[in-house]
Amino acid sequence: MKAIILLGAPGAGKGTVAALLKASTDYLHVSTGDMLREAVKARSPVGLQAKSYMEKGELVPDAVILGIVRERMEREPKTAKYMFDGFPRTLEQAAGLGALLAQFGAKVDGVFLLDVPRDVLVDRLSGRRVCRQCGAVYHVRNIPTKVEGVCDLCGGATYQRPDDSEATVVNRLEVYRRQTEGLIAWYRERGVLFEIEAAGAKEDTSDRILRVLAGL
Ligand code: AP5
Repeated sequence: MKAIILLGAPGAGKGTVAALLKASTDYLHVSTGDMLREAVKARSPVGLQAKSYMEKGELVPDAVILGIVRERMEREPKTAKYMFDGFPRTLEQAAGLGALLAQFGAKVDGVFLLDVPRDVLVDRLSGRRVCRQCGAVYHVRNIPTKVEGVCDLCGGATYQRPDDSEATVVNRLEVYRRQTEGLIAWYRERGVLFEIEAAGAKEDTSDRILRVLAGL
């Protein structure tokens, strides 16, 4: 088993770069944000619990998150390679992930911190559009669909995530600063943190990560 983490503020491009890395590696993409949005859509017990936190841009409780990640890992083969996106987000989640991996004799192999200035983050989030059907991610200016409002990949309709409203974006960035940034020092001390310049083209970010991955 191998495990890497994409770490970065909301809008840093974790999901976008994960889609590229998935296409050229055998890592499974595990996005807790995507899992929670699916749970909300399905109105499952986890979804009902998570909805109000997500709408406000607050973090869903650690126990809920660790529960869905554990369930997911139990369904996969013991040899699986994981690329976590948006998880862990608190020190408690990081400790929980460490314990989960230890059960398989594994550990976190690399943490890729996507470094993007705040003004770029806000611009990326305010222009993001997502396909309702397949989840593909676009940006109205940077990465537009060929036909406005229609996904290039599956023809589904695109929409703006409710938590991309201006007020919620401000809170999400503050929540990241308060609750998640501490993970940078935590993983740096463990010698597994790689800082990746991620303000440019998505392919450049992906290439930088692939170069580090080749040496892990
Ligand atoms: P989540 O879905 O994880 O949201 P996030 O961390 O806020 O990250 P985003 O999805 O907003 O950004 P991203 O970095 O993936 O950027 P993207 O690639 O889309 O979480 C949502 C909520 O769920 C949380 O607020 C919380 O409530 C809950 N939650 C989730 N995980 C949790 C956890 N572990 N613990 C507790 N609660 C949790 O890109 C953004 C935009 O930029 C797009 O429009 C894209 O097209 C564009 N873009 C990307 N890269 C580039 C580029 N290189 N150049 C130009 N444009 C680009």
